[in-house]
Amino acid sequence: MITELYVIGSGDDGEALRRGGQLIREGNLVVFPTETVYGLGASAYLSESAMKVYAAKGRPSDNPLIVHVEKPEDAEEFAYTSPLYYALAERFMPGPLTVILPKKDKIPPQVTGGLDTVAVRCPSNPTARALIREAAVPIAAPSANLSGKPSPTCARHVMQDMDGRVSMVIDGGDCDIGLESTVVSLADGCVKVLRPGAITVQMISDMGIPVTVDAGVTDLSAVSAHPESPGMKYKHYAPKASLFLVEGGTEELLAQARASKVRSEGKNIAVMCRSDEASLFDGFTVLDTGLSSKELAHRMFYLLRYADELCVSEIYAHLPSAEGESLAIYNRIIRSSGGNIIRKGK
Ligand code: TXA
Ligand code: MG
Repeated sequence: MITELYVIGSGDDGEALRRGGQLIREGNLVVFPTETVYGLGASAYLSESAMKVYAAKGRPSDNPLIVHVEKPEDAEEFAYTSPLYYALAERFMPGPLTVILPKKDKIPPQVTGGLDTVAVRCPSNPTARALIREAAVPIAAPSANLSGKPSPTCARHVMQDMDGRVSMVIDGGDCDIGLESTVVSLADGCVKVLRPGAITVQMISDMGIPVTVDAGVTDLSAVSAHPESPGMKYKHYAPKASLFLVEGGTEELLAQARASKVRSEGKNIAVMCRSDEASLFDGFTVLDTGLSSKELAHRMFYLLRYADELCVSEIYAHLPSAEGESLAIYNRIIRSSGGNIIRKGK
């Protein structure tokens, strides 16, 4: 399959989005930018399209897809909404929040991995919104990476995984947030976070809504064989390089990186560190994460994939805090590392 690449701003955007929308409506795959990561889009109403998504990603078909709508109320057509859904939608949509709702029959079981619930998300990225409008159907879209790899946050990384596997890629530049949406389920007036993201626990509890966090978010060993969010149980976000998370500060990171250099003479060792630490890591490949949690979230998947482009064999990074804005980073990076955590004093 030849993949058409269209760069937003390089020609007639309206025409390109109309073509993208038509491709989706007719059962093809189109990759598009969102404010979180790039999505691999297909009609949420066609079972064959969902099958194509699983094949293109190499994704297990019991891992359900998120259905993207232009407006929160568009979910009425295929899901049973509730006052709590609308309270969250009012505050956080359009934006990086995904809400699990009971599904109606309009969504084929292939889209939801056989579950009787469906994940609903209303993205804020204008290109994503225009594409959904043009498609005139809700768009089922997982992140546009091959299963197991870090999610793509720029079109170059999309093309590395999806060139030849999809009909069209729409390049809308770098994604603003860089990590996937917050996924929540609802029960008895409470919100449960299944996957943390830019919409934080605090932001939801500030609305006066009780919030819990699934144990599997921070503890890989707490993920059961049948977790509420099937995605939790799969290997995720992993670069080719081995990633080690070092507990402690700059000194501990430097010590571990140096020890590795001595052990693995001649290998390309990378350090993921803040901008203010970068000058200390002379002789290493430096993956600069900026200064704030927001910058780290924005760059993290990009840097993991960039390390692979540089043929790095080991990456040393700080073990991030599991609090506040950093919870999403913690959740992803422990999975990227496969649980390789070097504790202080070990
Ligand atoms: O930011 C995002 O959410 C991106 C962009 C493209 O919108 N999409 C994304 O999709 O991250 P994906 O497929 O990579 O991750 C979807 C997650 C998976 O962990 C999946 O298990 C969970 O959402 N999920 C989807 N439907 C669900 C359902 N009905 N019940 C529980 N979890 C569900
Ligand atoms: Mg994904």
